Amino acid sequence: MRILTIGDIFGRSGRDAVFEGLERHKGEYDFVIANGENASHGRGLSKPVYEELSNAGIEVFTLGNHTWGCPDVENIMRYNNNVIRPANFEGNLSGYGSTIVTSKNGIKIGVINLIGRTYMQQAASSPFFTADSEIEKLKDKCDVIIVDFHAEATSEKIAMGYYLDGKVSAVFGTHTHVQTADLKILQNGTGYITDLGMTGPVTSVLGVDKNIIINRFLDGMPRKFVVANGKSQFCGAIFEIDEKTKKTISVKRIYEEY
Ligand SMILES: [Fe+2]
Ligand SMILES: [Fe+2]
Repeated sequence: MRILTIGDIFGRSGRDAVFEGLERHKGEYDFVIANGENASHGRGLSKPVYEELSNAGIEVFTLGNHTWGCPDVENIMRYNNNVIRPANFEGNLSGYGSTIVTSKNGIKIGVINLIGRTYMQQAASSPFFTADSEIEKLKDKCDVIIVDFHAEATSEKIAMGYYLDGKVSAVFGTHTHVQTADLKILQNGTGYITDLGMTGPVTSVLGVDKNIIINRFLDGMPRKFVVANGKSQFCGAIFEIDEKTKKTISVKRIYEEY
């Protein structure tokens, strides 16, 4: 079972890269999970964009701190079981933090979305204890479990990788929009990367037009964020998992510019 995971899709540029990347890597993956928190103009996931990316081939969408960026998301989550938001958000919010989706080849894939607490603004309970309870809910109902840990601090993400080593098949990080070079298989067979990176405009500051962000640093004045133009990058990783042992057996990192 080969699972392609795609890092934060940012605006039109990121969506174009998804179409191109999925086509180029056709035959290398059996299932696709992507972080969609920035898919619509850099903030949130709207209904037309959800439909566009589903048609492109994305089978599960995870979210993050921009979960509520588009109001459509509440209905998308209500009527579709393949869009999840961080499980450890506090409060009685809509949506779920985990799901099980069956792949085309009949494998039941459990996906859990968590958000970090270090340098993050959202009210969230422990991602570690929430991971335990979500795994408990899923483990007897699915063949493999994959975790998207949407967090800022590399330390919190690496700690989560080791904490879940042997309990899930793969843990990938999202949110920083910068790909890390540490894709590996941990001691007990869990595939791990600290951050998949952003799928969006290459010449940008985390997806946003670079001049807007440079000027914001220069004078501190707030400005409207605009998605940058130009070349796109496609960032992700492919985890090959043995569904009998539930362990990752090979990993491949993808960073391409189109
Ligand atoms: Fe993001
Ligand atoms: Fe984020």
